[in-house]
Amino acid sequence: MPHDALELDVVRSHFPAFESPGNAGQSFFENAGGSYACRQTIDALSSYYTDTKVQPYADYGPSADAGARMDRSRRRWAEALGVESREVVFGPSTSMNTYVLANAFGEILAPGDEVIVTNQDHEANTGAIRRIAERVGATLREWRIDPVTGHLDPDGLYELLGERTRLVTVPHASNIVGEENPIAEICSAAHSVGARVVVDGVSFAPHSLPDVDALHADVYLFSLYKTYSVHQGLMVVRSGLLAELPNQGHFFNADVPDKRLNPAGPDHAQVAAAGAVLDYVEALHRHHIGDPGTDLRGAVGRVSRLWREHENVLTDALLDSLSSRDDVRLIGPGATGGARHRCPTIAFSPLAIEPEKVARGLVERGVQTSSGHYYAVRVLEGLGIDPDRGVVRLSFVHYTSPADIERAVTALDEVLDA
Ligand SMILES: Cc1ncc(COP(=O)(O)O)c(C=O)c1O
Repeated sequence: MPHDALELDVVRSHFPAFESPGNAGQSFFENAGGSYACRQTIDALSSYYTDTKVQPYADYGPSADAGARMDRSRRRWAEALGVESREVVFGPSTSMNTYVLANAFGEILAPGDEVIVTNQDHEANTGAIRRIAERVGATLREWRIDPVTGHLDPDGLYELLGERTRLVTVPHASNIVGEENPIAEICSAAHSVGARVVVDGVSFAPHSLPDVDALHADVYLFSLYKTYSVHQGLMVVRSGLLAELPNQGHFFNADVPDKRLNPAGPDHAQVAAAGAVLDYVEALHRHHIGDPGTDLRGAVGRVSRLWREHENVLTDALLDSLSSRDDVRLIGPGATGGARHRCPTIAFSPLAIEPEKVARGLVERGVQTSSGHYYAVRVLEGLGIDPDRGVVRLSFVHYTSPADIERAVTALDEVLDA
C-alpha cells in the first residue's frame, strides 16, 4: 500500500549508525558536515574490499567485476541526475573537483574576461577560481548577499553580467543561509551572454537529488559523503564544456571523459560503492510508493519529494522556536513556505552567549552539533558576523525525527535561558 509520508522506522533501519552505542540517546545535527552512510553504501564498500580489491578492468573474474561495479555507479548516477555517463566525474572531494576545474578554466580565460563569484559560497566553490582569475588577469566581480538576510538577489547578477562574462559560480543553497537559489533562472541569464555556470549543490543534494539537466547548469557539484554515500565528490560537467576544458590528466587519457578532470586517479572502491545509495532510494520508493521500474530519475524525484515534505515540517518547528527568541539572530528565511525553498541547514548567531558555549551546552544535552565558520568565512563577513566567533549550526536530513527536533528545541531553550 502506498504511504504518502515518510516512515521513519523504515528509513532508519537502513542506517546502521542509529544502532551504534556511541549514538544511543543522541540526536545528530551535523549532517551538513557529513551524513550517516546507508547500509547499502557500507555493504558495497565492504564487498568491494572483500571480493574485488584488485586493479579493475582486466579479463579475470574479480577484476572484470570491479570494473563493472565502477561502471554501474557511474551509469546509475548519470540516470539519477538526468545526464550522460560520460559527464559524471568522481573526484576525492568537491574542494578538489573545484580546484581542478578552476585550473582548467585558467587555461581558457584571457586577460579582460570576467568571472562572477558570490560571497554566499562555501570557500570551495570560489577560492581557487578567485586565485586563478587574478593570475590570468581576468576581472573578478562579486555578486553579494543582502547583509541582513543573506539572500542572493538575481537582480544583483543581472547588473554584473556583460559580454565579457565567461563564468558564474553560485551555490544551489549556502551551507549557512540554507535558502535555495533559482538555478535555472540564473543559468538562463548567464547563458544569454554566453557565460558558463558552476553550481555548488553540496548543501542542496542531500535534501533533494537534483535533475541537473532541468537546471541547465554547465557544472553541478556535490559531496557524496554528505549524501549517505562514500567520501567522494561528484561533479557533472556537461559535454559541451567537457570537450572545451583542457585535459588536466595524463596526456594519453585526454580522450577518456572521466579522466580529463580527475588527475588524482579514481578511488576504485569508493567509485564502485558510490551508486549503492541509489539502491537505498529505490528501496524507499518500493516501500512508500511501489515498484520504481526502470525510470531511475523519476523514482529519485518522487523519493526526494517525500524527503522534502518530511524535512519541511521539522524545519518549520525548529525555525518557529528560533524566530520566537530575541537573543538569537537567525540566518536565512524563517520558514520553508516563502518564495524560495529553505533547506534544513539552520545557522544562528547567539547574541548574549558565545557560539562555542552554546554548542557545548547542546552537546551536553544530547544534541550533536558544533559552532564555527564552516569555511563560509565570506558569508559571515558579508552578514557582519565575526568568522572567528562563528555561528551555531543545526543541520538535519530526512532521517531526523520529530523527537530529535523536540530535543534540540528543549536544549536550546535551556542553554540560551541559563
Ligand atoms: C556548501 C559546500 N560546498 C563545498 C564543500 C566542500 O566539500 P568537500 O568537503 O567535499 O570538499 C562543502 C563542505 O562542507 C560545503 O558545505
